[in-house]
Order: sequence, then C-alpha cells, then structure tokens
Amino acid sequence: MAKKTVKTAAKKAAKTPAKKTTATKSKTSAKAKASVKKLAAATLPKVSAGELVTLLDYVRYATSRFIEAKLAFAHGTTDPVSEAAFIVCELLHLHPDQFESFAMARVTAAEGRKILDVIHRRVTTRKPAAYLVNKIYMRGLPFYVDERTIVPRSFIGELLDTHFAGDDGEGASLIDDPMDVESVLDLCTGSGCIAILAAQSFPNAQVDAVDLSPAALAVAMRNVIDYGLDERLTLYKGDLFAPLGDTTYDLIITNPPYVDAQGMADLPDECLAEPSMAFDGGIDGLDIVRKIIDQAGAHLNPHGGLLCEVGRGRANVDEAFPDLPLIWLDTEDSEGEVFWVSAAALQGRGGI
Ligand SMILES: C[S@@+](CC[C@H](N)C(=O)[O-])C[C@H]1O[C@@H](n2cnc3c(N)ncnc32)[C@H](O)[C@@H]1O
Repeated sequence: MAKKTVKTAAKKAAKTPAKKTTATKSKTSAKAKASVKKLAAATLPKVSAGELVTLLDYVRYATSRFIEAKLAFAHGTTDPVSEAAFIVCELLHLHPDQFESFAMARVTAAEGRKILDVIHRRVTTRKPAAYLVNKIYMRGLPFYVDERTIVPRSFIGELLDTHFAGDDGEGASLIDDPMDVESVLDLCTGSGCIAILAAQSFPNAQVDAVDLSPAALAVAMRNVIDYGLDERLTLYKGDLFAPLGDTTYDLIITNPPYVDAQGMADLPDECLAEPSMAFDGGIDGLDIVRKIIDQAGAHLNPHGGLLCEVGRGRANVDEAFPDLPLIWLDTEDSEGEVFWVSAAALQGRGGI
C-alpha cells in the first residue's frame, strides 16, 4: 500500500466529517446480524503483536479485517483505510497528520496488543471507532466522545470556515466580519463540538448551547472545559428554545435530529450504538426542523440568520416551506444538506 495513500486517508480522518445518514446497510434481521457478528468474531485471525511490525503493517491488517467484515464507515471516516489509520494513530497518541512521519516506525509489543484489541472490538461490536478510543476530530481539532452522545460529523464545522470567515472578495461569506458576531446559539449541541468551533470562529461572541439530553450535556461540559471556554460558552438543558426565554442571537446554528422513519429503520449497526434521540426526526424527518424554522425568527437579531443541517431532507424542507428563501450550501463531501436563511425572512413566523 502506498504510504501517500495512507497519509491522505489519515489526514482525511482528522478533517473530513462523514454523512450522518449515507452509510449503506443491508436490511438484515436482528438474528442475522447477531450471527454475522458471531461469524466475524469466530473468523478473526489469531495474530500476535510481534507478527506485525510497523504502523503501516497494522493499518494494512486493520483495513483487511474491516473490508472482510463489511463494516460501515460514517463516523469521521469514509473508508477502511482512513478508519484504520485513525485507530492506529490514536492508540499511539499521534495526530492523524503525523502518520506519514512514523509509517515505517516499529510498534512495541504492548502497543501492538492495544491496537489489535481495538481493531478486533471494532469488528465484533460494530461500535464506531470514536467510541472505542473516546476521540473524534472535527476540522483537525480533537473532541472527547462516548456513547452518551452522537459521534460528531456535522458539515457545519466546514461551513463555518468556508462561509463565515468574512468578506474575502470572492463573495462566499454570508457575513461581513466574524469579529462583529456577538452572540451565537447552537441548538441540539450534543458533544458541544459545533458550539466550540463557533466560539473559535467568532472570538467576540458569547455562545449558548442547548440539548435535551443531560447525558450529552455532560460530554459537552467536558469538551467546553477542555477548550477553556467555560466563561464564554453556556450549556442549557431543555427542549430547543425553551430554556432561553426571549434571548436573541446574531447566529443560530443547528444540526438537529433529522432522520426520517425509513432512515431510522435502515440505520447501520454502527449507528445503533448512538442515542436514537440524536437521529429521530419523525415520519418525514422534519419534526424538530419545523419547530426550529417556526421559532428561530423570534430569537434572531435583525441582521442575523439560521444555519441548519437537514441531511437528505432538502426536498421535504423545500416542499414544507416553499416561500422561504433558503440558500443551500455545499461542502467537500455534501451537496445541499445545510441551508442558511436570514433573520428577515424568518420574522413573523411562530413566536416565543
Ligand atoms: C444530530 S445530533 C447533533 C449533535 C451535535 N450538534 C453534532 O453535530 O454532533 C442532535 C442532538 O439533538 C438533541 N436533541 C434531540 N431533541 C432535542 C430537543 N427537542 N431539544 C434539544 N435538543 C434535542 C439530541 O440529544 C442530540 O444531541
């Protein structure tokens, strides 16, 4: 395997969010799934740490096992090589960007045992790698994550860089100057990653972040403290805007639950380890999105706007809100899964 290919894959693991609902899944019964897992466990080769020597050897071995087990990749990586490189680097306390420097370095027997253990658990449990190593990277930054919250993979992190960096002369920015943003709300914050990225993008802003799940908020609190943002970022427990009174914001950003009933039935095994309330958007996926669109206007300052991720729900959103001038945004790995709408266009809908 070319070192460059793995390097690119490792970098991708650090940078690229994967789509929430696009992982493919065969529709197998619970019984069939259980026997697939059993088979995977039974057929995992007995390899001892000394048989594999370099980081690259471990990445190759993991890649082979992941392909063999037909894993789904939707949690920060999009393919088996990136996933393998992410796991190997993480267990060696290396940033994925450092893979190339050490690809041909030897792994000690003790390190090798730890790597093999996680590779085997990834195959036999189907849990996302991020849960097995308690880490995920967004925009190259590390965040703590565990099963109390969804593994972050929103496209909003990338959009903050590409569309909220201020006027660059190319007209891509939706705001004039990030330094002028004084208040941001992250609805449905989960692990707090988007709120933290927003705090970094808008250094003069106070950031509020809301989630209905106390368990997710405990993870968010850990990340907020890790990033030293507890003075500038406040977490609230509650249903969407309910805990905020009549507070208004310059920007509202949100990656809410938006998976429709069919999508919920088709979730890959990897997603079953995540809290279902992070996905479930009702029959057409828009239960929560509708509420956000209806109530956001009352919580936005006049020059502000709403940035909202809806996955594959674009057609449903367009149909449900034909009069709203939505701007659909693309990222490196997505097309029209996030919209922006100005505060002016939202005024007069719903209310506090
Ligand atoms: C798709 S996850 C997004 C998490 C995080 N923003 C991210 O991008 O990784 C949706 C989050 O919404 C939360 N949630 C679900 N219903 C909610 C509600 N009615 N009010 C507030 N948060 C809610 C879930 O607990 C979950 O953490």
